[in-house]
Amino acid sequence: MGTTFVRLHPRNKVLGWIEDRLPWLSFLSAHTSGYYAPKNFNLWYYFGSFALVVLVNQIVTGIFLTMFYKPNAAEAFASVEYIMRDVDWGWLVRYMHSTGASLFFVVVYLHMFRGLMYGSYKKPRELLWIIGMLIFLALMAEAFMGYVLPWGNMSFWGAKVIISLFGAVPVIGDTLVTWIMGDYLPADATLNRFFALHVVALPLVLILLVVLHIGALHEVGSNNPDGIEIKDKKKPDGTPLDGIAFHPYYTVKDLFGTGFFLLLAAFIIFYAPTFGGWFLEHDNFIPANNLATPEHIKPVWYFTPFYAMLRMIPAKLPGVIVMFLGIVLLFFMPWLDRGIVKSVRYRGLGYKIALGLFAISFVMLGAVGAGVTAEKIPEWFGAGADVTTIENAFGRFWLIVYFGFFAFLVFYTWWGKEKTRPVPDRVTTHA
Ligand code: HEM
Repeated sequence: MGTTFVRLHPRNKVLGWIEDRLPWLSFLSAHTSGYYAPKNFNLWYYFGSFALVVLVNQIVTGIFLTMFYKPNAAEAFASVEYIMRDVDWGWLVRYMHSTGASLFFVVVYLHMFRGLMYGSYKKPRELLWIIGMLIFLALMAEAFMGYVLPWGNMSFWGAKVIISLFGAVPVIGDTLVTWIMGDYLPADATLNRFFALHVVALPLVLILLVVLHIGALHEVGSNNPDGIEIKDKKKPDGTPLDGIAFHPYYTVKDLFGTGFFLLLAAFIIFYAPTFGGWFLEHDNFIPANNLATPEHIKPVWYFTPFYAMLRMIPAKLPGVIVMFLGIVLLFFMPWLDRGIVKSVRYRGLGYKIALGLFAISFVMLGAVGAGVTAEKIPEWFGAGADVTTIENAFGRFWLIVYFGFFAFLVFYTWWGKEKTRPVPDRVTTHA
């Protein structure tokens, strides 16, 4: 166990009475002051708690939005405009929710990258990682359905394109698409069910998964930037030599970091809520219209790397499979990477380069999916440039780099000789 459970006996009579019947204070204390975390956490270890902050923000602001939003195709768009213009503080609540969605992905992508850097997916944290990946899937579904709710033109066309992907499934594809939409186009039925899933079903799943995520974390204990198991060296009292109690040490540190994070969030909410069309797209300020296709249909920025994978493959079914693989392979990281050393600090140069290229490929694919490269190609190669050919060459190159990371890992750590550096005995506490 990563936590020490001590049965508390509060002196207050009421609290004591409850505690004897339901030891919730003992439980809370076991998971805060009784949880020992490595003392060498760096900035990368903020993102888990930021993700929790954003989750709470999404739920609270979501509840208020639900009080005024109308989940039907005739009224949805206007109800969002009503929230923005007439409901007291409605604009703030809506921008907190829409900015929160993007910040959620910023934070989760950095949180996942930290895991890749420090080998936090390796034994004994495989299940913690898998639960994290399930959270990521649920989060993608949650964000996609939320984006459809304002019933703007991009909501409509985005929903159409993404749901139509299920049409690639052999034999039952078309039936499946109609079943998901509840109609032959994204329509009232689609909006109603997406609303139910977005406000009730998926938040419940997300909360449950997050509880399991933290439960699994507290069972095996946190990894750290040195990738050393702090439980291997204990003090006479049984607590880890290189560990400090989560409360008060990390609660205070996380609170401090959260202050900075909230400042950044406030800056976006108050001064740049659409973030130049990246957080709220211009085409979504136009009501849904099945007769007017937006010039460039593209998802919000956080889906664009996966959207590019789909677009870079010429046929629909193989494209869907490649995109799906782009996510599924991450689930298998604990078994694809057999390197003994966890932290990138002490891993071979090969891993360092591969991880760097992997991160770059993700950003580059994101740029392709968002249409940035298509826009820039005439500027870089002249007005007559063949945009499609150049974009495909560029996108496919980064697609190979992305998948090459997983192939490389297998060759490098199953059969290759990774030249690692000696891992220190104790955590190194950098000033
Ligand atoms: C709603 C989304 C999420 C929340 C609220 C969340 C929360 C947390 C928290 C509070 C921690 C401990 C603090 C920290 O290490 O930063 C943590 C650790 C961890 N999370 Fe998440 N997480 C989320 C999503 C994910 C995802 C998508 C993954 C990866 C697929 C993931 C993988 C991990 C791993 C491997 C650790 C342990 C890291 C270590 O000890 O080095 N999490 N998470």
